[in-house]
Amino acid sequence: MSESLKNKNVLVTGASQGLGAVIAKVFATAGCHVYVNCARGVENAQTVVDEIVASGGSAEFFQCDISDEQDISLKFQSLKSIDILVNNARINPYSRPPGSSEAEWFAQVFKVNLTGPHLVTLALIEGMKKRHWGRIINISSIQGHIPVPRHMIPYGVAKAGLNELTRCFALEAAPYNVTVNTVSPGMIVTENISKNLTSDEIEERNQRIPLHRGATPEEIAEAVLFVAECGYMTGEIVNVNGGLWMTP
Ligand SMILES: NC(=O)c1ccc[n+]([C@@H]2O[C@H](COP(=O)([O-])OP(=O)(O)OC[C@H]3O[C@@H](n4cnc5c(N)ncnc54)[C@H](OP(=O)(O)O)[C@@H]3O)[C@@H](O)[C@H]2O)c1
Repeated sequence: MSESLKNKNVLVTGASQGLGAVIAKVFATAGCHVYVNCARGVENAQTVVDEIVASGGSAEFFQCDISDEQDISLKFQSLKSIDILVNNARINPYSRPPGSSEAEWFAQVFKVNLTGPHLVTLALIEGMKKRHWGRIINISSIQGHIPVPRHMIPYGVAKAGLNELTRCFALEAAPYNVTVNTVSPGMIVTENISKNLTSDEIEERNQRIPLHRGATPEEIAEAVLFVAECGYMTGEIVNVNGGLWMTP
């Protein structure tokens, strides 16, 4: 039987837009109190909070740069005990600053997409272990499992690292009833998809996906909720990619 998540405190990193915003809403609908995090998009994040509260849910804004160790140690003190952590924040792989060197871009992607989840997990996992209940869900990507084009290598390698992070913390935390899993989407049709891909590129991907379409953010968020509700799964990678996983 799935566990009730009512009144659990949830931190969703990178929830000012896209998938994170929808995950925040889905957990609020399940009766959780949700911390809506981002580093920069303050207005967007506040809108997500306002929408949750307007529909009867419980949420608050939590600004913190999850890649900044000092920001974490300063700001995390203000959080109530976090029961569920969703490591969703990412630096957009399509947003490489012009003129950045290979090493600079690689380091930047790793800082947000891999070091960030590691630091946030370290900040919260001991509390979960002490309370003998916790869920950590890392949002990875199919690009962490398959060979990717050269410009996506830092992103893919960081996501592959995130999958390993899941396994390491899953084994450590299992004796304390804390599960750690990955949800790994393929293409998600967020409100920002057209900023990253042309309509031809989207159509080309649709054709390659056996289900012939990208996921809605709600479909991925429901998978994240399922993982949080399931107390007997840990160290897993839940692939939610329309079957793309199976194609050569
Ligand atoms: N979109 C897809 O097709 C797709 C496919 C597979 C996997 N995924 C994964 O799904 C997750 C969400 O993707 P998305 O498309 O919704 O992402 P997105 O639109 O690029 O949003 C990323 C979020 O992360 C936040 N963020 C960035 N840097 C941060 C930092 N240092 N500290 C805190 N928050 C930070 C951003 O807010 P601010 O910039 O305002 O701080 C924003 O809220 C990511 O992990 C991504 O890799 C996405």
